[in-house]
Amino acid sequence: MNPLLTVTNISKYYGDICACDRISFSLYSGQVLGIIGESGSGKSTLLSGIAGQLPVDEGEIAYRDRADTLVNLRTLPEPQRRRLMKTEWGFVQQNPRDGLRMRVTAGANIGERLLDVGARHYGNIRTEALEWLSQVEIPPARMDDLPSTFSGGMQQRLQLARILVTRPRLVLMDEPTGGLDVSVQAKLLDLMRSLVRTLDLSVILVTHDIGVVRLLAHRLLVMQNGQVVEAGLTDQVLDDPQHPYTQQLVSATLVP
Ligand SMILES: Nc1ncnc2c1ncn2[C@@H]1O[C@H](COP(=O)(O)OP(=O)(O)O)[C@@H](O)[C@H]1O
Ligand SMILES: [Mg+2]
Repeated sequence: MNPLLTVTNISKYYGDICACDRISFSLYSGQVLGIIGESGSGKSTLLSGIAGQLPVDEGEIAYRDRADTLVNLRTLPEPQRRRLMKTEWGFVQQNPRDGLRMRVTAGANIGERLLDVGARHYGNIRTEALEWLSQVEIPPARMDDLPSTFSGGMQQRLQLARILVTRPRLVLMDEPTGGLDVSVQAKLLDLMRSLVRTLDLSVILVTHDIGVVRLLAHRLLVMQNGQVVEAGLTDQVLDDPQHPYTQQLVSATLVP
């Protein structure tokens, strides 16, 4: 089977700081790849670089699209990149306010993405928006409310619905549970786990929280100072960490 996404030796510098140092990995369909590391290790830079929101300095990013065509993300013209982001990719922001339109209703936040990909029938759009609200456990009665009246956990679930309605194949998430209370986090993680399975999503999930990757990620990259210091199956990496930094990460979470 061919990988969905192949990242080869990508590097990004900010002046003298090397935020990402020759990072490579492959992501296969239906796989969840966790990227873990402390603050400043280069996780967000890597994710934005992959999505083409930030130009990288070196390396290749190749994506196999729905038509089975290999797309070079580094040379893809901006209009095509934007189209790909709407039709095949989704980006879940840490702060739902960055991923939602706060001045339009919950239903419109979902419907807007459908309009973007060409849906025109108002009744169908509304029906589908309602279905997605229920998928992310938001009561249908909140359909016409503004997201600003929602709790943080509900806003994050609405952001998921807004992204998933166009049935993306690849979803990038940057600390999706980062800003939430622990009990709300747990609920959102459960929901994400079931959505990833039922929709057969491929996901790149950035987090500093080992609990999050343990629950969701099949494979893991451990980053420190812009470099991948360890990579492998999540269970293997966390049960038998080889690199001192990973060992430290794992033992820190075992301390009560
Ligand atoms: N816009 C920027 N300008 C200069 N340095 C940056 C910028 N964004 C990130 N950095 C630096 O790049 C490194 C990686 O940052 P980042 O990717 O945000 O890490 P993480 O998401 O793991 O916390 C850090 O040293 C950070 O200070
Ligand atoms: Mg970050």
